[in-house]
Amino acid sequence: MLSGKRILLIIGGGIAAYKSLELIRRLRDLGAVVTPVMTPSAEQFVTPLSVAALAGETVHRELFDLTSEAEMGHIQLSRVADLVLVAPATADLMAKMVQGLAGDLASTLLLATDTPVMIVPAMNVRMWQHPATQRNLAQLLADGVQVVGPDEGAMACGEFGPGRFAEVPDVVDAVRSALTGGPLAGRRVLVTSGPTHEPIDPVRYIANRSSGAQGTAIAEALRALGADVVFVTGPAEVARPEGVEVIEVVTATQMRAAVLGALPVDAGVFAAAVADWRVASASDSKIKKQNGQLPVLEFAENPDILAEVSRLPEGRPGLVVGFAAETDDVVAHATAKRVRKGCDWIVANDVSPATGIMGGSENAVVLISENGSEAWPRMGKREVARRLALRIAAALGAG
Ligand code: CTP
Repeated sequence: MLSGKRILLIIGGGIAAYKSLELIRRLRDLGAVVTPVMTPSAEQFVTPLSVAALAGETVHRELFDLTSEAEMGHIQLSRVADLVLVAPATADLMAKMVQGLAGDLASTLLLATDTPVMIVPAMNVRMWQHPATQRNLAQLLADGVQVVGPDEGAMACGEFGPGRFAEVPDVVDAVRSALTGGPLAGRRVLVTSGPTHEPIDPVRYIANRSSGAQGTAIAEALRALGADVVFVTGPAEVARPEGVEVIEVVTATQMRAAVLGALPVDAGVFAAAVADWRVASASDSKIKKQNGQLPVLEFAENPDILAEVSRLPEGRPGLVVGFAAETDDVVAHATAKRVRKGCDWIVANDVSPATGIMGGSENAVVLISENGSEAWPRMGKREVARRLALRIAAALGAG
């Protein structure tokens, strides 16, 4: 799939440098030629010997290396590649890229290149969240650099949060898309995500529990396969995905309008936990306590966005994928829900508190279609997203 493609891999100095070894293998499995460059600090984490052995290529390490200069100058090195991949990209390398510094081989190559650049940031969570790094990230995106990850989770340094090196298969997908356009290139896919908040008054609301993690991962996985993604999200906890069109909404009514406005699309994935009801007449001012007299809320039913889109007489997406969060008889309920809502597939999961799925990083889903049900093993939400994205690509005839 990547045969004949040349990737210049710049390995930065961080604990995640060891993941670049796996990355080299996977890229070579697909037929890519990987030319490795290591910063001096990368060599503190993995040895040039390991990198060279896996890449089957010489490791470039020095800016002033007369042999290399005679054979292939560093300018040329950065130009013959189809993609410059920085993995892991440290905070230091990102800052150098933003400043246009060229004091060592890695930064010189990055400044000298006119080839597309992709970075896979990995660093301590505080370093990632520092305003300086976030400023640099914004500048790199504005400069057209493609950014994959970072993931969120437990880190080698013992802290928890965003900063982990993205999963290697996700990086490989992103590289594939960058180099080949990806199986979903030219396809437009809609994803709804997160909860909706239905106001009671200006300070109170009712909502469903949803972190938005699964919907966000799906948007990223579709993007990694080259799709143009429209991401309609309620007030979710997790960071918004990069490289997609984000439409922020609060209520179900707003989500419906945003979804209908985003059509036509080739496929729609409805991962949002939409509130089924809204307060019939939300108060414009804060409801005050009244001598022990309790307020009574009246509800009105929200529009079922999934059912409406599934039954559109015109402009129905070629593939409509719903979600079903159930606490018992998961497959039976979800199978009935698929028919009732008129969607093509339902991704069903058991959200009983004991499963730890809601708000957690893993998911165990059953994919239900007209052909029956298929239980997937418990896996990370990103892996669920990746598999689902590949299935969507296959269903659209693009796999
Ligand atoms: N959904 C939607 N609009 C709504 C409610 C739900 O688009 N107003 C979508 C969700 O995004 C999800 C699917 O419908 O893809 C299933 O949602 P769920 O809440 O499980 O279904 P309900 O309609 O609430 O069914 P039930 O009350 O029987 O569980």
